[in-house]
Amino acid sequence: MLILGIETSCDETGVALYDSAQGLLAHALFSQIDMHADYGGVVPELASRDHVRKLLPLCDQVLAEAGRTCADIDGIAYTAGPGLVGALMVGGSVAHALGFALGIPVLGVHHMEGHLLAPMLEPAPPAFPFVALLVSGGHTQLVRVDGIGEYELLGESVDDAAGEAFDKTAKMLGLDYPGGPRVAALAEQGTAGRYRFPRPMTDRPGLDFSFSGLKTFTLNTVTAAQDSGALDQQTRADIALAFEAAVVDTLTIKCRRALEQTGCKRLVIAGGVSANKRLRAGLEKMTAKLGAGVFYARPEFCTDNGAMIAYAGCQRLMAGQRDGDRIVAVPRWPMNTLPPLSRACDNGLVD
Ligand code: KG4
Ligand code: ZN
Repeated sequence: MLILGIETSCDETGVALYDSAQGLLAHALFSQIDMHADYGGVVPELASRDHVRKLLPLCDQVLAEAGRTCADIDGIAYTAGPGLVGALMVGGSVAHALGFALGIPVLGVHHMEGHLLAPMLEPAPPAFPFVALLVSGGHTQLVRVDGIGEYELLGESVDDAAGEAFDKTAKMLGLDYPGGPRVAALAEQGTAGRYRFPRPMTDRPGLDFSFSGLKTFTLNTVTAAQDSGALDQQTRADIALAFEAAVVDTLTIKCRRALEQTGCKRLVIAGGVSANKRLRAGLEKMTAKLGAGVFYARPEFCTDNGAMIAYAGCQRLMAGQRDGDRIVAVPRWPMNTLPPLSRACDNGLVD
């Protein structure tokens, strides 16, 4: 089954062609980062308009790269939420119009399920069951995953998401949006041990997270350095490193707890923050000690992309799931309300 995947939930237009037998055939991404950078964050109306401009040319591009035409497509998957409603509507409208014209099924896909399944696109994908840490700009969640659509929420952030904390810290340090990769790059120059930031909610049991206190701690540290005239480049790098180390430690402690609690031997990390090198290294070390393994996607499939939507949609379309006549756009959508697949997916990964 050849599936066209469309991602337009936020500030990246992503398109991909995934074939159930041959795997990923082509993918393309247009990032609106430069457009939103002037505003210090995503401007929803500008995002929607740019998806309108870029989506069809990207569809043409992936079809040409894969040497296929519209007539070869068997189904269309698009991101139905969570996300910016106007941006979601662009992808949903194009998907439904194309599906109607071609007489093929269309399915709205959950963006976080897309992220969660992105490591399945890699050469050594994880088998079920596993624990997933979803860390993006809007979500920080620990989920037990027994199969596609079989999700048990183990814990989540009670306030800011990890990616959001990175973005806000970037702003405090005078770095551009999106902040995650920029804070990480600045932290490379940092001196370990000059500052020590708190590891929120690690001193009590449970798998929930909180990053707003850490954000305030960072702001207070930046302000104090500024007031004393000490906020030079080295100090900014030292603060970036202390912040990153605190986030990585906190996430690592909770992941270890989740693995111990569930008895799972596999940890999957997904979403934009899973591209973070220090986080990957910390989790590799922790899982190795537990005799467990950690799985993640290549960096370009950690952040938003069309390939993950094509893959997730393909699994569900093959199981017979599809939209009715209506475009689905759900700005807020808990992932554990998704239906399970009616049958095991065809990649033989259920153990
Ligand atoms: O998954 P994603 O592309 O979009 C959402 O669904 O939110 O995640 C974007 C988030 C942003 O907050 C960005 O700053 C963060 O992921 N991010 C990173 C890194 N790359 C992206 N955070 C830390 N380190 C990175 N290398
Ligand atoms: Zn995302």
